[in-house]
Amino acid sequence: SSERTFIMIKPDGVTRGLVGDIISRFEKRGYKLVAIKSLVPSRQLAEQHYADLSTRPFFKGLVNYITSGKAPVVAMVWEGKDVIRQGRIMIGATNPLDAAPGTIRNTYSISIGRNIIHGSDSFDTAEQEIGLWFGKPGELASWEPA
Ligand code: CMP
Repeated sequence: SSERTFIMIKPDGVTRGLVGDIISRFEKRGYKLVAIKSLVPSRQLAEQHYADLSTRPFFKGLVNYITSGKAPVVAMVWEGKDVIRQGRIMIGATNPLDAAPGTIRNTYSISIGRNIIHGSDSFDTAEQEIGLWFGKPGELASWEPA
C-alpha cells in the first residue's frame, strides 16, 4: 500500500543539471511529491543522515562533499505504492558501475563517490530520514489528484 520515501539529489546531480530529469522520472512513474527543498546541509545534519556509515573510510569525504556548498542538495519526499523499493530500483545500485541500464545512476555516473542521488533503503530508514530532513510540522503536504 501507499508509503513514503526520502530521496536526495546530491550536489553532483544538481551541478550536472539533473534535477528536472529526476523529478520527471518519479512524476511520470506515478509518484506524488509531498515535500521538496534545496539546501546546503549543516555538518550535523549530514553526519546524522549518514550515521550508519560513520566508521567507513569514506565517511569524512562524503560529509565534506555533501556540506561543501559548491551546490546544494535537493531533498524530497515521494509517496505512493511500494515507493521505497521502486525508488531504489529506479536509482540503481550504489556503485553506478553495477547499476542496471536505464537506472538514474547507470545513466548518469561511473563514480561511486559521485553517484548523483540517495534513496532510503527500508521503511524504518525512510521514516527516520523523513523526520530528520522534514521534521517541522507542516513540511509534508498530503494531496490527492483532482
Ligand atoms: P548513498 O546512497 O548516498 O549512501 C551512502 C553513500 O556513500 C553512497 O550513496 C555513496 O555516495 C557513498 N559511498 C559508498 N561507498 C563508497 C566508497 N567506497 N567510496 C566513496 N563513497 C562511497
